[in-house]
Amino acid sequence: MSDEEKREDGESGVEDIAVTSTTPQPVRPGLTEDEASRRVLDLRHQLEYHNYRYYVQDDPEVTDAEYDALYRELKTLESLYPELITPDSPTQRVSIGNAVSEFPKVVHEVPMLSLSNVFSPQDLAEWNERASKYLDRRYDFTYTVEPKIDGLSVALVYEDGVLVRGATRGDGITGDDITPNLKTIKSIPWKLKYRDGSTDPIPARLEVRGEVYMPISAFDKLNRELAEKGEKLFANPRNSAAGSLRQKDSSITAKRPLNVFIYTLARMEGGPELKTQWEALKFFERLGFRVAPEIKLGEDLDQVVEAVTAWLDRRERLDFEIDGAVIKINEFAVEDKLGFVGRDPRWATAYKFPAREAVTRLTGITWTVRRTGTINPLAILDPVNIGGTTVKSATLFNIDMIERLGLKINDPLLVKRAGDVIPNVVKVMEERRTGEETPVVLPATCPSCGAPTTRRPDESGSNDPKLYCTNDPYDCPSQMRDWIFFFSAVRGVDGMGERIAHRFYDEGLLRNFGDLYYLKREQLLALDRFGERSTDKLLNQIEESKKKPLDNLLMALGIPHVGVKSAEMLANHFHSLANLEAADIDAIAAIKGMGRVAAQSIVKFFANENNRKIVQKIIDAGVRTEDPIEEENGGRKALAGKTFVLTGNLVNYGRKQAEELLKRRGATIGSSVSKNTDYVIAGAEAGSKLTKAQQLGVSILDEEAFTRLVED
Ligand code: IVH
Repeated sequence: MSDEEKREDGESGVEDIAVTSTTPQPVRPGLTEDEASRRVLDLRHQLEYHNYRYYVQDDPEVTDAEYDALYRELKTLESLYPELITPDSPTQRVSIGNAVSEFPKVVHEVPMLSLSNVFSPQDLAEWNERASKYLDRRYDFTYTVEPKIDGLSVALVYEDGVLVRGATRGDGITGDDITPNLKTIKSIPWKLKYRDGSTDPIPARLEVRGEVYMPISAFDKLNRELAEKGEKLFANPRNSAAGSLRQKDSSITAKRPLNVFIYTLARMEGGPELKTQWEALKFFERLGFRVAPEIKLGEDLDQVVEAVTAWLDRRERLDFEIDGAVIKINEFAVEDKLGFVGRDPRWATAYKFPAREAVTRLTGITWTVRRTGTINPLAILDPVNIGGTTVKSATLFNIDMIERLGLKINDPLLVKRAGDVIPNVVKVMEERRTGEETPVVLPATCPSCGAPTTRRPDESGSNDPKLYCTNDPYDCPSQMRDWIFFFSAVRGVDGMGERIAHRFYDEGLLRNFGDLYYLKREQLLALDRFGERSTDKLLNQIEESKKKPLDNLLMALGIPHVGVKSAEMLANHFHSLANLEAADIDAIAAIKGMGRVAAQSIVKFFANENNRKIVQKIIDAGVRTEDPIEEENGGRKALAGKTFVLTGNLVNYGRKQAEELLKRRGATIGSSVSKNTDYVIAGAEAGSKLTKAQQLGVSILDEEAFTRLVED
């Protein structure tokens, strides 16, 4: 076989290549065309295999970076030798064809039908009874139980193992030919081959069907990106999958993270004999198709119901939407006998799960003021039953959401509930508006303290503008209540849940978070529903929280821009709350990794008289505000905040041992010398790090100096 033929043939002949490399190679100039051609085939073979591992098996063998490197090498070779590019090259998946004005129509050789529904084990038994009766009870059968994927069904036609057409369901008889778009979905094979090495013949003609969907995580990400660009959002993953598949320009589809599960054998010529749906599913897998996980074979209806229940339980944890389970009679011979009633097969049915969406009316919005002063909206709804639970409210996240949804009071809303999370508003059902809708008015004053509100970007740096109360937390009850709750939660005082924190504030037991350490047993016992046990438990947690390390206290203070990591750095550097309080902006900003914004925020925090008073109260209560120095003699961590780099060999210390000694004294160990390095410890045979230290003027210590440093 000539190289030319091999190229035409796509993958065959690849196995014959002796010199292959699984690591990407820099493209060597002066490569002969023959060598380039071999490498191109080899790379395609590898990429195709990794695609399969990644997209079909969800079990990649290489990292994304490794995949990208192989891909880039192929791209480079193809640009150097354009004559080697074939339409089936993985590089051609991204942007196949250009904008088409409208999709050509295709008539499905086998119509794409729908499914009847059942909603209970009782309905299922009746469906089964009808099927048995139809067959005069002459057949025994088993069932497959598959997830009912909430996406779009598609039909894929392969001729001699090559994907020749992909179409939508359309009206079931005629669909749209969307081959270029479907070809961008990486888990749809372009060329079939047995993944188990079997030499069985590839069917001369094969039509399979399945569901294209967008993973929930990808849908969330896509909507976030669309929101940032101010574009219209998709209502749900199904819509976004549909929108992505209907793109006229397949390069847009290529950018959308679509995926597919194959579940139906529509037609086959020249393949192995398949007698059951179960065999068909296994056959799909062998051929490299992606098949849904956890498909069960049920011997009787009890087993079927068990498998359906398992899917219902699993539903919240999946990264794809399902709206039920599909039950199919497994034996094809029985299916053929059963045939169809109207558009629904008698041999299959959909066991539908309770809906998670419902339409209801927005009766109002309540505004909650949080610790940082943000005022967040909560949608108050006409109570509605969604999947067995009465839903009365839904999150709106922030004011941006109100604008994005175009929300008005009295609006009919599509509300979605998933798992235990607070339901959210999917969209306004504009076509159901009655004309009685009124605009949402953002509160001009804080609902808690009455101070004017202001609108500005979020403190955390996210782009969403938020509504803020302009008052200090000391003058705004809601902010302080939430601060008390936040402080208690960070300090590990679990007994002080949100409701209790608010109640204690409202009843005057706590006016600020510092009061937490002054709660009296008698005060608590005097409260309704506070018995001895819960009182002692709470007081015990508060007492325990006093012992927590300094970084936890810093975190709990809730200083804007001080998170877990920076609290840790501050504690390591300053060792005590008093030291931090005394520090100025420059001293704080000088700590590696601390920004100026955070430094300013810290100084501002301690400049506030009220904050200082509370900090003093906390200290007076005997709360740990210093990190004890873990040295025998009780001295300070002498090397705190200093970065050391070690190079060469020390005579009396091993490398690890030397590092450990430095770390125990608070030092940080760096791996390379930079201007941020404070000292370089240079042993015998020190190399380039020593030279670098000399160039940068970093202090260099020899073993003797090191010994003095760590032994003192
Ligand atoms: S089999 C004769 N299996 O549900 C129809 N359909 O309501 C055979 N669907 O149009 C369809 N997951 O889009 C089948 N595992 C699955 C499915 C599934 C989702 C969709 C499909 C179909 C609709 C029927």
